Amino acid sequence: MENVPLAQLISLKGKIAIVTGGAMGIGRGIVKRLAEAGAKVLIADFNHEAAQKTAKELQGNGWVVLSIKTDVGNEADVKKMIEVCQEALGGIDILVNNAGIYPPEPVAKMSGEDFEKVMHVNLRSVFLTTKYVSEVMKQQGRGGKIINITSVDAIHPSMVGLAHYDASKHGVWGFTKNSALELAKDKIWVNAIAPGGINTPGVAAMQGVAPQADAETLKKQTEAFMAKIPMGRMGEPDEIGKVALFLASDLASYMTGEQVVVDGGVLLS
Ligand SMILES: NC(=O)c1ccc[n+]([C@@H]2O[C@H](COP(=O)([O-])OP(=O)(O)OC[C@H]3O[C@@H](n4cnc5c(N)ncnc54)[C@H](O)[C@@H]3O)[C@@H](O)[C@H]2O)c1
Repeated sequence: MENVPLAQLISLKGKIAIVTGGAMGIGRGIVKRLAEAGAKVLIADFNHEAAQKTAKELQGNGWVVLSIKTDVGNEADVKKMIEVCQEALGGIDILVNNAGIYPPEPVAKMSGEDFEKVMHVNLRSVFLTTKYVSEVMKQQGRGGKIINITSVDAIHPSMVGLAHYDASKHGVWGFTKNSALELAKDKIWVNAIAPGGINTPGVAAMQGVAPQADAETLKKQTEAFMAKIPMGRMGEPDEIGKVALFLASDLASYMTGEQVVVDGGVLLS
């Protein structure tokens, strides 16, 4: 095993990947690195227009990237996503559960629907995709990789107003560990990546849509968060893409049930 050349270890040639929420932001960064490493990628995203645009752009590099409109918390959509991946690309070797939402709302103002919406997209999705994709991986008999995008909020809260989000991300981290335990016998490795602050359309929108009364508070919280980053800057989607490539490749052949923090050091402060 130690004699495998580096280029072969990092290659995803012949592999097929699904990246949820891959139309933009962190997901797009992940799609790019997996495709560059040779994987055929299906982007499963609720925003189909953006997903089609991203797929088309990346196809320009000679990469195989397709897209399908999917609500990752909807069981029928997840089953359809898997069917399309099998039919169009020939199987599934890598699943990246990246789709997620983080609408800021203090608990005092949060409705039951607000709470459930976040659980639907961030947590129920991970259960559904893991259940049905691992079934396919077992049938294929060649193992697989599942990578769940959590957050530093799965470890420590980053700001007030994300209690529902933090609950969902702690949930995904717990789900990651237990499903890693269950699936190891089938050579399916399940790991998580916990990003810190990353420059994405979602983060920009969070600041843009804040209710007027809370905009100043949100601005102050963002400034306070920035001041706590030892590296002195936000991360870029590609900085998560590179770690996802590591976990999806044979470079991470002896890792499962682990959470890799990629946060510019923010949890240190
Ligand atoms: N950006 C950050 O600072 C940061 C930090 C920690 C964790 N994360 C996590 O990274 C992931 C991506 O975040 P981002 O900042 O790139 O977000 P983003 O909003 O920029 O992009 C998210 C993508 O997910 C898609 N999506 C939303 N709901 C969906 C659904 N129900 N079904 C399918 N697709 C759906 C959106 O259409 C969009 O393309 C999320 O899980 C988020 O919690 C982000």
